[in-house]
Amino acid sequence: MALLYLNSPCFSILPLIGVFMAAVASMAAAQLSSTFYDSSCPGVLTTIQTAVQDVVNQEARMGASLLRLHFHDCFGCDGSVLLDDTANFTGEKTAPPNNNSIRGFDVVDTIKSQVQALCPQVVSCADILAVAARDAVVALGGPSWTVQLGRRDATTASFSTASSDLPSPLLSLSGLISAFSNKGLSTTDMVALSGGHTIGQARCVSFRNRIYNENNINPSFATSTQANCPSVAGNGDDTLSPLDVQSPTIFDNFYFQGLVNQTGLLHSDQQLFNGGSTDSLVSTYSTDMAGFFNAFAAAMVNMGNISPLTGSNGEIRINCRTIN
Ligand code: HEM
Ligand SMILES: *[C@@H]1O[C@H](CO)[C@@H](O)[C@H](O)[C@H]1NC(C)=O
Ligand SMILES: *[C@@H]1O[C@H](CO)[C@@H](O)[C@H](O)[C@H]1NC(C)=O
Ligand SMILES: *[C@@H]1O[C@H](CO)[C@@H](O)[C@H](O)[C@H]1NC(C)=O
Repeated sequence: MALLYLNSPCFSILPLIGVFMAAVASMAAAQLSSTFYDSSCPGVLTTIQTAVQDVVNQEARMGASLLRLHFHDCFGCDGSVLLDDTANFTGEKTAPPNNNSIRGFDVVDTIKSQVQALCPQVVSCADILAVAARDAVVALGGPSWTVQLGRRDATTASFSTASSDLPSPLLSLSGLISAFSNKGLSTTDMVALSGGHTIGQARCVSFRNRIYNENNINPSFATSTQANCPSVAGNGDDTLSPLDVQSPTIFDNFYFQGLVNQTGLLHSDQQLFNGGSTDSLVSTYSTDMAGFFNAFAAAMVNMGNISPLTGSNGEIRINCRTIN
């Protein structure tokens, strides 16, 4: 900065060079690559895929949990969601969208230790999440895509950013559109990515108000879901129901069929088909599984590009739960 205060013409160009170099660096920094580990860790993709297939074989829901872990890391894809609290910061694990809800940390630890044995301190935790999410979707019958790689891991985590930026299930359609556009994702990306709810489970506390008090819900679905989720707050809060009542362990387009049928479990789910601007996309995906798969794959790549750390920013963590 001191150079800025020098008047000599000899020096005056230096800050401009600095600005130019910073611009080049940030363009390079935004660039992930599918071949990032081809020479530094050639076996990493197979190692992750085998591990994910194994855990999904043991418990299908874990595939859903791994997909969600990448999403919750990715409003800034930097491995921050994996960090335990420290004396210096409260991490993201207890932020309201995650507390008592997000899971799969032990699976990530297992994969990380296998990857460490293969090529020590080469592959980031953020990239492991991105690859594991893809492999989980494939293991449950969904589409595949080429994962862009080269993210590095954050050295801090933010309880408050996770609390404010991750979408709440109480959001309206316009709130959902804003939450995603704030991260550079389109409405089409948002609708396609919501199709991630074709797998996995939600807790009663996340949908109680919808199944007792909303009108845009299939009555027999409301009744059957109420049987597993008592109306009084505090009772059965953690009892699970499938997000896609038809096929919760298969990655298909039945989530969108369910929205057309008014069996969306979360308030936010049914917002996507409630007379608004996204109805036509939901209708399309409900009858066109290939169209949904293509849109989902493209949107996952877009989501994976949200503000990664690259180049010499961040670090390659040794243990995904702690900074080095
Ligand atoms: C559109 C805004 C979204 C909202 C409001 C939302 C909200 C939620 C909520 C409330 C749950 C249940 C949590 C609980 O009760 O413990 C959940 C589960 C889940 N979400 Fe989302 N979500 C959204 C988008 C996404 C996206 C983009 C993905 C991935 C592409 C995703 C994947 C999942 C999965 C797979 C589960 C089930 C996880 C499991 O069974 O462990 N969600 N989501
Ligand atoms: C907290 O931050 C200080 C200063 O950066 C560092 O020396 C210390 O190791 C950190 N503590 C933990 C638990 O990470
Ligand atoms: C997280 O959940 C635990 C257990 O239910 C609760 O005691 C704690 O207050 C919650 N933390 C936050 C930040 O909401
Ligand atoms: C529509 O809802 C009804 C009532 O819950 C259910 O029996 C049916 O399977 C649903 N169809 C789809 C495609 O979700």
